[in-house]
Amino acid sequence: MKTSHIVAATVGTIAIASIGCALYFDAKRRSDPNFRRKLKKERKRAQKQAKEDEQKNVTRTAQSIEDALANIDENEFPTSMEDREKFCMDQLSTGEALFTQGPAGYDASAICFYKALKVYPAPAELVMVYQKTIPPEVFTLVMGMLSMDVHKKQQKYYTVFPPAEMNVKVEEMPEGNTAEGQKVIRRGLVATRDFAAGETIYSETPIISSLEPSLEGNEFCHYCMKQIAEGVIIAPCPTCTKVVFCSEACERSASTEFHTVLCTNDSEDTSRPELALYNYTKETNNKYPEMIAKFLVRMVHEETQNTGEEYNLFDHIERLRFLEVRPSVAEEKEIELLKTTLGSRIPGIEEFINEERYLTLKGKLLYNAYGLSTSLDPERSVEPSPEQFRSVHDAPVVGAGFYRVSSYMSHSCRPNTKLAFAEHSNNMSVVATTDIKAGEELHVGFIDQKNGTLSTEQRRQELFQHYRFKCMCPLCEKPE
Ligand SMILES: *[C@@H]1O[C@H](CO)[C@@H](O)[C@H](O)[C@H]1NC(C)=O
Ligand SMILES: *[C@@H]1O[C@H](CO)[C@@H](O)[C@H](O)[C@H]1NC(C)=O
Ligand SMILES: *[C@@H]1O[C@H](CO)[C@@H](O)[C@H](O)[C@H]1NC(C)=O
Ligand SMILES: *[C@@H]1O[C@H](CO)[C@@H](O)[C@H](O)[C@H]1NC(C)=O
Ligand SMILES: *[C@@H]1O[C@H](CO)[C@@H](O)[C@H](O)[C@H]1NC(C)=O
Ligand SMILES: [Zn+2]
Ligand SMILES: [Zn+2]
Ligand SMILES: [Zn+2]
Repeated sequence: MKTSHIVAATVGTIAIASIGCALYFDAKRRSDPNFRRKLKKERKRAQKQAKEDEQKNVTRTAQSIEDALANIDENEFPTSMEDREKFCMDQLSTGEALFTQGPAGYDASAICFYKALKVYPAPAELVMVYQKTIPPEVFTLVMGMLSMDVHKKQQKYYTVFPPAEMNVKVEEMPEGNTAEGQKVIRRGLVATRDFAAGETIYSETPIISSLEPSLEGNEFCHYCMKQIAEGVIIAPCPTCTKVVFCSEACERSASTEFHTVLCTNDSEDTSRPELALYNYTKETNNKYPEMIAKFLVRMVHEETQNTGEEYNLFDHIERLRFLEVRPSVAEEKEIELLKTTLGSRIPGIEEFINEERYLTLKGKLLYNAYGLSTSLDPERSVEPSPEQFRSVHDAPVVGAGFYRVSSYMSHSCRPNTKLAFAEHSNNMSVVATTDIKAGEELHVGFIDQKNGTLSTEQRRQELFQHYRFKCMCPLCEKPE
């Protein structure tokens, strides 16, 4: 195999590699069971191969793969698109030159191919090229490195997230046994220092949020959900009259993260697919399809940026609990709407939005989203959408937000925290309502307890109906 072959093959793919492909394949690597199985198989094969090789003493063992990985400095990877492409090409040709020297060059060669893979926008595509072009021994090593890498990254997640300055960590806790006697483990959010009642534990802005469809228009900001006070100059969307922003900063953030793709762009014809999603949201009063669209666009945007973040949006939501959503005619329609809305703007996204993924995303919103109380008027009446969100309803709810950290908070009928919305925006603060000691779990109320008038039975029933768990909080276990 000549160097020019691999490079030619990959140059072709780099040229056509669209953001959609990057997104699709990268996510596929992480979530597609077939691909995972394949990785697992490859890992097994790599281990077996390593064993054989150990005897033959021609190549490294799994341990040496780990050593090799430990010696790769992530900082050496360039950040700009052009530099990455050049780096990728250099690694490919060096890797190829090395393996042509025979078995003695295999290890070093594998490291080069692995590095190229790390910067390539569509890694799975490159893996396919490798499979056809590099010697099986080297390929096995590269796959071994890749799967070890993925595994390590997954293992490490909760040691770097949530960031230490948020004063909380995610912990696994036992939650009784199943009927078969197996231990049930759930994840919860735990304070990492003491807090006095009234103190703010942390604040966070959502991954994505949406207004109740009936409020979308000219009164609430489409980005931060803030109600626009009288006299404040509204920042309009330059291309549509469907949404407004409370500031130019919000307008800019929304444009870069999702609105440029989802804007109905009034200057164009009425058959625009973006308009179909907008119409659907208004007609059904459902906002979660739009939230999912925003999420997907934001995710693509993030994947095309070099944010320097180790974990992307998909990594963040992957571990969150979700409700199982049975597909219905409505969901089928929503999937189609998203495919047509995003398909023309983001190549490759249509394959990505399959039924399973859409239903999982919806299930995550249904389980984790919080109601946002950002209205300036405490008596404001809002036409509620049929979609559920966590809220104790002591103020009008004008929309819903999906948060990275707060999604880990568990329910209690007598919670030790409450939520506050700084400056009436979707920047949500979790505030201690009692003194909290380091190591103590944080709880929040998921449901409106109707001013304490609900019986234990009623609370449990409501929680089970909406969140499918039996509440075991102190108030439900030992009602006084
Ligand atoms: C493998 O080969 C190297 C030299 O190529 C030798 O130094 C080493 O001892 C060998 N290891 C084993 C386990 O045979
Ligand atoms: C919106 O319409 C204008 C005028 O037709 C066009 O120039 C612009 O590219 C469109 N914007 C988007 C986001 O489609
Ligand atoms: C959206 O609704 C408007 C007004 O009812 C209508 O004119 C337009 O054709 C609809 N567009 C789509 C794509 O459904
Ligand atoms: C959210 O609000 C807090 C104050 O409650 C502030 O310190 C923080 O900077 C805000 N975050 C963002 C992203 O606006
Ligand atoms: C809730 O209960 C308090 C005192 O028990 C009462 O003053 C208040 O009016 C009640 N609020 C509602 C909304 O029922
Ligand atoms: Zn705003
Ligand atoms: Zn717009
Ligand atoms: Zn309870």
